[in-house]
Amino acid sequence: MRTQVAIIGGGPSGLLLGQLLHRRGIDAVVLERKTRDYVLGRVRAGVLEAGLVGLMEEAGVADRLHREGYVHDGTQIACAGEMFHIDFRALTGKPVIVYGQTEVTRDLYDAREAVDARTEFEVDHVAIHDADTERPHVTYDQHGATHRLDCDFVAGCDGFHGISRQTIPLGIRREYEKTSPFGWLGILSRTPPVYDELIYANSDRGFALCSMRNENLSRYYVQCALSDHPEDWTDTAFWQELKRRIPPEAAARLVTGPSIEKSIAPLRSFVSEPMRWGRLFLCGDAAHIVPPTGAKGLNTAASDVHYLHRGLTQFYEDGDPEGIDRYSERALLRVWKAERFSWWFSSLMHRYPDQSPFDLKMQQADIAFLRDNAAQQQAFAENYVGLPY
Ligand code: FAD
Ligand code: DHB
Repeated sequence: MRTQVAIIGGGPSGLLLGQLLHRRGIDAVVLERKTRDYVLGRVRAGVLEAGLVGLMEEAGVADRLHREGYVHDGTQIACAGEMFHIDFRALTGKPVIVYGQTEVTRDLYDAREAVDARTEFEVDHVAIHDADTERPHVTYDQHGATHRLDCDFVAGCDGFHGISRQTIPLGIRREYEKTSPFGWLGILSRTPPVYDELIYANSDRGFALCSMRNENLSRYYVQCALSDHPEDWTDTAFWQELKRRIPPEAAARLVTGPSIEKSIAPLRSFVSEPMRWGRLFLCGDAAHIVPPTGAKGLNTAASDVHYLHRGLTQFYEDGDPEGIDRYSERALLRVWKAERFSWWFSSLMHRYPDQSPFDLKMQQADIAFLRDNAAQQQAFAENYVGLPY
């Protein structure tokens, strides 16, 4: 079998890249380890930057997003029981859209199916060969048979645990990592959201986040110990803890109910450089992870897709390799800014085991500065709605 671009991983990065390439007449095959239902069952991101929305429009898959997504013009930051508002629209002219990653992925799978684009599910033992030559190929097993896919380029969109990054020799790869000594316990419940904007809360019991998917589907998170398991937390314990961490007026309005999903995510900052090796390009979580505070993971994956699809289009349409040659440099410049913002916002909002009284005072002063200073709010808003591509 032959294709122009072999895409490893059918998460949002791989699917969005595939759809954008398809619109430019460039053929791609997506290889996904799991089933479609499994991928769609993972509850993850919920906040989309305007840049990602623009890419969904360009890919021709933004109709439902515009119909069903929620436009958020700002967010709430809470500390010591008080809340203040950061007005994205007034500060940047841009909102963010609340629309689940699950829905983004579903729209992209539906679009692939509608145009008969090839996606191979339940593939195993995917291996990338000769990526440092002009004739790379990919092998994989599926339902007991081994297959070979010849291609011009390989896009490694297979997430943090994928094989694409590992294909780049250790002598070439440089990895930067910082892990946090806690996680986020998240639940989804069929209850109305507590507030019409997201609430990021710093409290002396740890961080909490109130988010949502729609008018009757809420997503909440609390900072938890890394040693915790979701089954250690009853729904009652979760709601009690959340109420203690958010401002009293929000706690009083909180509607609770049974959780329909409960999971724990670790907090990690990670970047692997370079994002290109020969004809292999890494995209999204395959190359970098941000801690979730600030909702930058999916959005940073989208900016990689932007640079890569532009580069590949320039190569196929104009015979110009400039875009693919500078892909890693361009993508990483924006990746590191998203890493910085997510790291900073995380450090502002969480309780750390070794935090001294001085550290706590610095955190409080940092939040007060954000509340009171227009320039700091401007910087926050520009990062939150998404830096330009
Ligand atoms: P993935 O979504 O990980 O997709 C990779 C795909 O590759 C998967 O389908 C996987 O099955 C497949 N795969 C893996 N290995 C192989 C292999 N060897 N062969 C074939 N296929 C393979 N980001 C935001 O922007 N906003 C948010 O609000 C936000 N909230 C989050 C909340 C949580 C709880 C979590 C966990 C993440 C959150 N993120 C958020 C991050 C966001 O979900 C990720 O950044 C995003 O999923 C990255 O997309 P991706 O396609 O690069 O990787
Ligand atoms: C959500 C997740 C985030 O990490 C965030 O910063 C905002 C919202 C969410 O899942 O809704």
